Amino acid sequence: MMRILVLGAAAGGGVPQWNCNCGICRSARQGGNGIGRSAQASVAVSADGDHWFLINASPDLRQQITDNPQLHPRHGLRHSPISGVLLTNGDVDAIAGLLTMREGSPFTLYAHDNVLSILRANSIFNVLSPVHVKRQPIRLEEPFALTLPDGRPSGLKVTAFAVPGKVPLYLEGGAPDPDAVDTIGLLIENGDSRFYYVAACAEVTPDLAERLAGAPMVFFDGTLWQDDEMIKGGLSAKTGRRMAHLAMSGAQGSIESFKSIAVDRKIYLHINNSNPAWHPDSPERHHLTQAGWEILPDGTEISL
Ligand code: MLT
Ligand code: MN
Ligand code: ZN
Repeated sequence: MMRILVLGAAAGGGVPQWNCNCGICRSARQGGNGIGRSAQASVAVSADGDHWFLINASPDLRQQITDNPQLHPRHGLRHSPISGVLLTNGDVDAIAGLLTMREGSPFTLYAHDNVLSILRANSIFNVLSPVHVKRQPIRLEEPFALTLPDGRPSGLKVTAFAVPGKVPLYLEGGAPDPDAVDTIGLLIENGDSRFYYVAACAEVTPDLAERLAGAPMVFFDGTLWQDDEMIKGGLSAKTGRRMAHLAMSGAQGSIESFKSIAVDRKIYLHINNSNPAWHPDSPERHHLTQAGWEILPDGTEISL
């Protein structure tokens, strides 16, 4: 058994994004068109309801904790049910929330060594003192147990695997490293319960399709509806491909790619504020719903 709490479904910037005046962000700000506000992508997972592990620490983490009683302190003067954080890449929207967790509560930070070295190279992350925060490298394809701060097992088991991605935006421009592992996906298990977290992904490769086949639940990259929507909308010069994010629509898109992969629940995460599927009554939302995909409001809790 597992409990999974959606802390945020939006991509970098959130909905609304601080400087964005697009229709979706305006509606979210003003409360119109049924478009709710959404924090930057992250979920929390627990086997017992008492101890939680975050997948990524979004820049909205302080508010996400405040908004979700599952993550509030339970006893004593200083306490947090958050026992650990797993990072799936080094993007700002995956790591900035770590700075919120600097007040001396113990937890374990799990990340691939490429992401741990980004943290080591940025001394601001030294606010997470090694006295309280253990940094544990994630090795690909080697299942490992998540432990509680006192060393007891949490009940949760994780297997990480590489997915097509790219270096974080702020590191672009260096010499490309073809062997670099920039983005990982996660399989989280407790007994017979399991789900996958792949909230950044440039392509559904045959290997990935095979891995996900038969899964009860997958969180998947929902950044864009259409590869060039940010260009068409006048928001940015970048395509989804350029950002290593697969679009929902199109022949190579996630809706089409998953048609031949048997997955019981398919949930989009990391949905950019340019994505028309944020409109609950849009043709795009209708299309993805018909194809068996879900977009969940922040604060949704799932039992598996
Ligand atoms: C991404 O998801 O591609 C990044 O969050 C982009 C960014 O850092 O602006
Ligand atoms: Mn992002
Ligand atoms: Zn916007």
